[in-house]
Amino acid sequence: MCGIVGYTGARQAVPLLLEGLRRLEYRGYDSAGVALVVEGRIDVHKAVGKIDRLERALGPTQPSGHVGIAHTRWATHGAPNLANAHPHIDCGGTLALAHNGIIENAGLLRAALAQRGHTFRSDTDTEVLAHLIEDLQARGQSFVDAVAGALSKVEGTYGIAVISTREPDTIIAARRGSPLLVAIGTNENFVASDASAVLAHTRSVVYLDDGEIAVVRPHEYRILDVDAVEKEKAVTHVAWDLGTIERGGYAHFMLKEIMDQPESLHNTLRGRLLEDEGTARLGGLNVTDEELLQINRIVITACGTSWHAALIGEYMIEELARVPTEVEYASEFRYRNPIVDARTLVIGISQSGETADTLAALREAKRRGARTLGLVNVVGSTIAREVDGGIYLHAGPEIGVASTKAFTSQIAALALLTLKLGRLRSLSILQGREIVRELVRLPHLVEQVLARAPEVEAVAERLLRAGNVLYLGRGYNFPVALEGALKLKEISYIHAEGYPAAEMKHGPIALIDDLMPVVFVAPRDAVYQKIVSNVEEVKARGGRVIAVVTAGDTGLARLADQRIDVPETLDFLTPILTVLPLQLLAYYIAVRRGCNVDQPRNLAKSVTVE
Ligand code: AGP
Repeated sequence: MCGIVGYTGARQAVPLLLEGLRRLEYRGYDSAGVALVVEGRIDVHKAVGKIDRLERALGPTQPSGHVGIAHTRWATHGAPNLANAHPHIDCGGTLALAHNGIIENAGLLRAALAQRGHTFRSDTDTEVLAHLIEDLQARGQSFVDAVAGALSKVEGTYGIAVISTREPDTIIAARRGSPLLVAIGTNENFVASDASAVLAHTRSVVYLDDGEIAVVRPHEYRILDVDAVEKEKAVTHVAWDLGTIERGGYAHFMLKEIMDQPESLHNTLRGRLLEDEGTARLGGLNVTDEELLQINRIVITACGTSWHAALIGEYMIEELARVPTEVEYASEFRYRNPIVDARTLVIGISQSGETADTLAALREAKRRGARTLGLVNVVGSTIAREVDGGIYLHAGPEIGVASTKAFTSQIAALALLTLKLGRLRSLSILQGREIVRELVRLPHLVEQVLARAPEVEAVAERLLRAGNVLYLGRGYNFPVALEGALKLKEISYIHAEGYPAAEMKHGPIALIDDLMPVVFVAPRDAVYQKIVSNVEEVKARGGRVIAVVTAGDTGLARLADQRIDVPETLDFLTPILTVLPLQLLAYYIAVRRGCNVDQPRNLAKSVTVE
């Protein structure tokens, strides 16, 4: 998720573009850049890092120009460096383009354009668009036709803004999958990823829909549909305040990120599922299938929420790929004398890619000759740069300190890796295809669970005064119980413990009374019957049971005081659904208790110290 803003009018563009970028910084802050059309040439300025860096790079006397576009980047393809910062230009320097989204067939397009003599300056997927437009303009097409023609060749998602020396007062903007709007001023107009970038100047906006193109000039704008036919579009008056927009209309980033999960999961799976072969395509692993078959042991290391995802990965890989797998707290692994060698694959899971303990654990594994992989959300982060290969989550920026969408994307990425490893070993093509089909359904199943948020809010009401809460699960859902407890602890400050349900009898059951709420994570999976008896044990001691169950459950649900339903899916994918009500539960309890949900006390989003 990146941020785009553009301006065409009589005022100096740079101050307006910088202000707009600052408002969009929550969308990504790996690098930033502006491009202006000035006296028949394109003037580009970029900097790595936050908008401040760009402002410094622009210097005290900012470049002059009345038409420009700007971009703040959340890297997906190509490390966060100067060459990969947007806007990107064509060979001739006659146009500049900023993009938010992922071009899935960029590799193919790039190869074809290079054959036709185009020179590329970056590793980004985006740059192909600039050269495609140049190519079509060179064949005599108008600016807008060339942009439309180029877009018709790309697969994937985009929100783009383009300027050209051929039409110096024009910005062309277009969207498919990534948000973009035209903001209407007086004798000036803007384009932007969301209204927060322009609210200081106008509240009149036209939201573009997928496939639409906007031709924007100071005194006019036109909206064209996919066939370049002009169409009327309603002008919306934006009543929201800035903060609300940055949070997408949600009260907190955490809730926004919980509700983002259908899309973030979709982005994690995008372009990586091969239904015919019943396997996964993971371009960043940087290891051959032969080398993967040499691996005889896997160690997954991480911290916090990522460590909970690692536990689920262990279960998956052992069950479906039959490779011995262990999970290690990174802070422990780095200091004990771990046994790893060249046939060990050490996987480090980290949303930020900067967690000190996980980084050190990976460095220790590498020192001992193991091959290392990173499951990371932040592109270009230290872990991503130091491991031998990896899988980017593409979950988008996670602002809330309590990790939510990164967790479900970590599980999805582990499922992809398991599928790949499994198909190399024991999984049949039919089993592989069934898993692919179920993964494709997942974002939709997540939507169904999130639609039941009001029911979870009602359950939260009953837990507000709890002093302690116990979370219990079995199999794939034991780590989900741990994660539910961690979410409640870190944002509502209520003491909570996650436990394997069968372990209760060995001690914690002593805690059970009518004051101790017990949350069971109990979908209808292979250990369902076992957990039913655990629920009966708790009920027999007067415990209050909240149960996350499979929709239509009649067995366990009749024992529960409150139930939260999730749809059915394959056992190893149930954690992606069962964790959602637990994220919401912690959120609603914390909000009702007046906690600072996005910035909980004593915590940091990325723990870069040991
Ligand atoms: C989770 O909500 C916490 N923010 C924390 O436990 C986090 O998961 C842990 O610090 C690991 O962070 P990472 O995934 O960025 O490495």
